[in-house]
Amino acid sequence: MKRVYVYKGFERFWHWTQASLIIFLAFTGFEVHGTFHVLGFEHAARFHRVASWMLISLIIFAIFWHVVTGEWRQYIPTTKKLLAQIRFYSIGMFKGEKHPTKKTEVKKLNPLQRLVYLGFKLVLVPVTVISGIIYMFHKTIDRNDIVMVSDFSLETVAFWHTLGAFLLMVFLVVHVYMTTTGHTPTSNIQAMITGYEDLEDDAEESEQQEVS
Ligand code: HEM
Repeated sequence: MKRVYVYKGFERFWHWTQASLIIFLAFTGFEVHGTFHVLGFEHAARFHRVASWMLISLIIFAIFWHVVTGEWRQYIPTTKKLLAQIRFYSIGMFKGEKHPTKKTEVKKLNPLQRLVYLGFKLVLVPVTVISGIIYMFHKTIDRNDIVMVSDFSLETVAFWHTLGAFLLMVFLVVHVYMTTTGHTPTSNIQAMITGYEDLEDDAEESEQQEVS
């Protein structure tokens, strides 16, 4: 095994801040929804709006970082070894088989992760954030008699926003479970905290073989 610097400083900051904000937004959002009563509706709604602006700012910085560093390429989907990866997660890992793909600093995500994270970034987060922004400005725009948002009823906006929120929670549970499937149950989480992960030593060699 070789100790490799996999996750850079900004990446770790972005990951944990985004996770905290999404959990906080879910907590305040589901209070607004009426699922439980802890902070009170007024406080929950106010905190939800403040946190949502923080998440929007973070997403703008994260898009900038992915483009400037070229890290967006990590998410280019591929079908190569996709079935092998699905088979590993559903059967292989319970039999103690080896991971079908190797993780390196230039290829952090396996084919299934690429697909799932791309869906997270291009569908799930945009649906929740855009419906949230329309939700936030719905009344204001209505009051100013601007026609655009009257095309969507508040019920429709709330439906998509709540659906996005619910699916984000499903993602969170599955994601946390999947982090335990690394070389050891905590190795992936430790890597996202320290930036370093112990990866197989022949990773570079196999990377070159795959490219050639
Ligand atoms: C930038 C992102 C977001 C924006 C702009 C936003 C905005 C809003 C707004 C304006 C409301 C209506 C309450 C109010 O008037 O304050 C709301 C409700 C809600 N939000 Fe968000 N939100 C965002 C992200 C999230 C996330 C990430 C979650 C959960 C993971 C979430 C979950 C909810 C839920 C469950 C409700 C209640 C929906 C209902 O029953 O009508 N929101 N959000």
